[in-house]
Amino acid sequence: MMDRDTTICHCVGITYGEIVDAIKEKGAKTYEDIQEITEASTVCGGCEDDIREILDEHLS
Ligand code: FES
Repeated sequence: MMDRDTTICHCVGITYGEIVDAIKEKGAKTYEDIQEITEASTVCGGCEDDIREILDEHLS
């Protein structure tokens, strides 16, 4: 289980908690929304799958 402080995007330093907040509080619904709101996944893209999984978990 990931906790809020787990780093998901190492390039930009975005945590699991920040991604969840973007979904729950800022209305992010897509991978592109997460990129725009948090800047996560805007460098190497290696965290894309993890971000898509977090979106799936929290949008269902
Ligand atoms: S780990 Fe997220 S852009 Fe590189």
